[in-house]
Amino acid sequence: MNTSDYFPEIIQGGMGAGVSNWKLAKSVACHGQLGVVSGTALDSILARRLQLGDLDGSMRRAMSQFPWQDIVQKILDDYFIEGGKEPHMPFKNIPWHELELSAANVGLLLVSNFVEIFLAKEGHDGPVGINYLEKIQLPTLPSLLGAMLAGVTYVLMGGGIPLAIPGTLDSLAKWEPVQLSLHVDNPTDESSYTMHFDPKQWCPGPLPELTRPKFLAVISSDIVAKTMVRKASGYVDGFVVEDHTAGGHNAPPRRSDVQPAPGACPYGAKDVPDIAKIKNLGRPFWLAGSCASPERLKDALAQGAAGIQVGTIFAFCEESGITPELKQQALRKCLEGTPDVCTNMNASPTGYPFKILQLEGTLGDPAVVAARKRVCDLGFLRQFYITDEGKLGYRCTAEPEALFVKKGGKIEKTEGALCLCNGLLGTIGLGQTRKDYVEPAVVTTGEDFAFVEKLVKSDTLTYTAKDAIDYLKS
Ligand SMILES: Cc1cc2nc3c(=O)[nH]c(=O)nc-3n(C[C@H](O)[C@H](O)[C@H](O)COP(=O)(O)O)c2cc1C
Repeated sequence: MNTSDYFPEIIQGGMGAGVSNWKLAKSVACHGQLGVVSGTALDSILARRLQLGDLDGSMRRAMSQFPWQDIVQKILDDYFIEGGKEPHMPFKNIPWHELELSAANVGLLLVSNFVEIFLAKEGHDGPVGINYLEKIQLPTLPSLLGAMLAGVTYVLMGGGIPLAIPGTLDSLAKWEPVQLSLHVDNPTDESSYTMHFDPKQWCPGPLPELTRPKFLAVISSDIVAKTMVRKASGYVDGFVVEDHTAGGHNAPPRRSDVQPAPGACPYGAKDVPDIAKIKNLGRPFWLAGSCASPERLKDALAQGAAGIQVGTIFAFCEESGITPELKQQALRKCLEGTPDVCTNMNASPTGYPFKILQLEGTLGDPAVVAARKRVCDLGFLRQFYITDEGKLGYRCTAEPEALFVKKGGKIEKTEGALCLCNGLLGTIGLGQTRKDYVEPAVVTTGEDFAFVEKLVKSDTLTYTAKDAIDYLKS
């Protein structure tokens, strides 16, 4: 298939961390639609899969195809455990990301992003994409290169306004140095911080040819779409227009004239994107958020969209990274009635609203939250701030409260904050073990579960990505 001018009708949305893994994206791509892997925390995910022994050998098979084998060897030496670690032993964490990324970090980012795309593309010629979040900045530049080295077809980015990324893709495709300005919580006139990344510094010798992937911005308003077209550093190939019912992080509500009642939906008419205005920008677009039905697909096409992006319907299928136990618990709840999903305004350290499914034994259960001792040892969602000494600091609203306050953070911001880094790794069976405690999962979904009764039988509680695609195209 010539993937350069291909626009799929269905995009399987990127779902972090590790929910849309290479198995899911490959399965979707094999059935003629766009499979998207999540690019979030792939370095930690690779390190943990290796510590579980990489029992089917897929990680090492993909790693053996990475062009710089000295980097691969170092990762294997650091993390691979033949046969897997003892269950009670904790995972060894990767080093923290900082403004000046260490060689170990860059190596892990290049290789882990390469591996996920390599495996998602293996054995077919359909298109595969990768999804990143604008709010997670430190790993972005090496991650993009790693995915491009494996021939990623699409890069999708949400969770902010990714103005710098289209131009970055242009430069990386030519092996040119790139940079990224950090979004600082308390910016001052004197200090601005920029990450620099020279691909040739890390990848010496004969350089493989790279293709610039298409770039799709995940946006929630026509204003942001227009800003991207006018001000982005390079060409924006299209948009995913996601409404506030979608899973994962949502755009914050725009200020409404009427204050919502406590507990009521904070979104109003102003949050509905103007599709006609987006269409007028002349780029392909896909509608997302409660679009998982054949009717919604037809409706999207009738509005001039290229198709739909869907998440939740794929999050619960066989191939996704969520553990089978959590999938079954969620699907059973759906068959028994409407599951409880809340848009939590305080949980995510990014400051963005985050949808949480209320499942027993997870961070959707207040008792589980109350029992968890705060630990911040992954740090993907830390925000940047300028310290009293004028240096760059890192803090997270979900770290121990005293630590956050010591770093100048306001105590109110810690209220209700949840450690999504540890929680999301728990959701895919890679939760940290701490003595007799295993980090609980957190499950995010969208608000629409109407697909469940069409796809799922109560005796088996399972379906495949192909079943989901066949249903959407029916
Ligand atoms: C488990 C889960 C994780 C998600 N993670 C991300 C993410 O990391 N980045 C992103 O841009 N969107 C993320 N999303 C949003 C999806 O890509 C998709 O746009 C959304 O789920 C569409 O709405 P739907 O769930 O009603 O189909 C996530 C959604 C789910 C269900």
